[in-house]
Amino acid sequence: MQGGNGGTRKVRVRVKRYDPEKGFYTREYEVEVDKYSTVLDALLSIIESQDRTLAVRYSCRMGICGSCGMVINGVPRLACETNVASLGGDVVEVEPMYNFPLVRDLVTSMDSFFEHHRRVKPFLIRRDEEEQFRAEREYMQRPEEVDEYLTFSYCIMCGLCVAACPVVSEKPSFLGPQALAQAYRWSIDSRDEGAVLRIEAVDDFDGVWSCEFAGSCSKVCPKGVDPALAIQALKMQVVRARGPL
Ligand code: SF4
Ligand code: FES
Repeated sequence: MQGGNGGTRKVRVRVKRYDPEKGFYTREYEVEVDKYSTVLDALLSIIESQDRTLAVRYSCRMGICGSCGMVINGVPRLACETNVASLGGDVVEVEPMYNFPLVRDLVTSMDSFFEHHRRVKPFLIRRDEEEQFRAEREYMQRPEEVDEYLTFSYCIMCGLCVAACPVVSEKPSFLGPQALAQAYRWSIDSRDEGAVLRIEAVDDFDGVWSCEFAGSCSKVCPKGVDPALAIQALKMQVVRARGPL
């Protein structure tokens, strides 16, 4: 319900904070919001007018860079795309992303996330490297070949799927939904010839075989990537690559 001046109202923003020396603690702030305010707007207003020590990571403020991931009212979301009014109620609970090492407050380390991403070789691989780097013309694709991988190419590397994954929380060495979805995205690209190398990287108990198909990764993905589907399809690719028993 909007109230106050010019359609604004007050909400309480309860932030689970982390100090590397003191550990976790909670701070609550009262913030004025309107019907357009996002959770990121509310956090930035806290930093500007109440508490400059609150650490938040963000960049684009428009759902593109993937850097403002956090847990809002128990669900991993992008703070810049989460409208405060849509959450309902007068209290917004904000926590750092689950399953990531903490740096400070709402800022998490993305190092192992990027390392897992790199491990699946998320780029075009051609058998003939000489030709790949000195190609005389573009690699052409038909629209239906682009459609095969398009959904999976929308990943902005925000990490929300990893924050939601129950397997990663038990087993941090699991490559995780983001990296595995990208392994699939590149393996089904008609221009790519590196599927064998990627299958070597994912055919492992830290790879596809740890996925229990909980599906929570796909539910929280802000870009509709559907990592759960990609991982099941990747499992089939791995089995096919192994050949008959
Ligand atoms: S798959 Fe979706 S949730 Fe996971 S990192 Fe990519 S965009 Fe974010
Ligand atoms: S600030 Fe870039 S996605 Fe939110």
